[in-house]
Amino acid sequence: MNSITIEAPAKINLTLDIKGKRDDGYHELETVMHQIDLLDYIKIEKTNENISIQSENTQIPNNEENLAYKAAELFFQKNGIKRKGVNIFIQKNIPVGAGLAGGSTNAAGVLKGLNQLYAVNLDQKSLLKLGEYIGSDVPFCIMGGTALAKGRGEVLTPINTQKLTILLVKPKYQLSTAEIYKNFAIDKVEENPNNGAFLEAWNNNDIINITSNIANVLESVSIAKYPEIANIKNKLKNLGALNAIMSGSGPTVFGIFNDRKRALNAHNYFKEQYQEVFLVSSYIKR
Ligand code: C5P
Repeated sequence: MNSITIEAPAKINLTLDIKGKRDDGYHELETVMHQIDLLDYIKIEKTNENISIQSENTQIPNNEENLAYKAAELFFQKNGIKRKGVNIFIQKNIPVGAGLAGGSTNAAGVLKGLNQLYAVNLDQKSLLKLGEYIGSDVPFCIMGGTALAKGRGEVLTPINTQKLTILLVKPKYQLSTAEIYKNFAIDKVEENPNNGAFLEAWNNNDIINITSNIANVLESVSIAKYPEIANIKNKLKNLGALNAIMSGSGPTVFGIFNDRKRALNAHNYFKEQYQEVFLVSSYIKR
């Protein structure tokens, strides 16, 4: 096998709670992550050269700054693979700097792809461990589906997946995850998610209580700086979303609908004002 193409789904955070700041500078999280059907495609080809990153999207770095590059470098190094030439083509559909784990899922795709391409056959536990070195969201992107994540984001408990109808609206700016976390102050939080209640509703397939329990404490940072995020949330709810919150460190806002017609109508409304609007479902592995 000389090349492989991997699907790399985006994620949203259905809940995101911060329990405190850790000694290593990271924040202690309790968050439910959920993969959605908004996919980048990663094509990896063996070559005799070095690692190269190519994409038609000029917003992502095409050098060692790219998490996909870091993933390839780490994979070769940890597995003692000497002939480490690969072309990595990233077909980017996930908005960049959006709170949707676009960079992390590309890195996860590279780890999974190289594992197959070089027939190294690392088990999932070892792949998750490699992912941890690259970024807090990478282990979840490797595991996929839906999971409760604790620690930095790497302590994962998988939960069953449900099919939701989700409308994503991304304002035109990008946000830096490090910057948002740096400005987080626990006393500025207005609403914490109740993960226990969320998970109970999730297990009962109870869409009303699922949606009434979604919340993201990082909104306290980004809405203070960008009130537009609150406006998008309100508009989504006015247009029929059962609830709407920001994903991750933002700025993407998503609404959950139980009525496809309303979701389509809201999609048309936002499409007139924003370039990056996506009506998606939960990602179900093919
Ligand atoms: O792990 P990753 O490099 O993706 O995280 C980006 C930044 O987000 C970190 O440098 C850190 O500032 C912040 N972060 C955090 N707590 C987490 C995850 C990320 O403070 N649990």
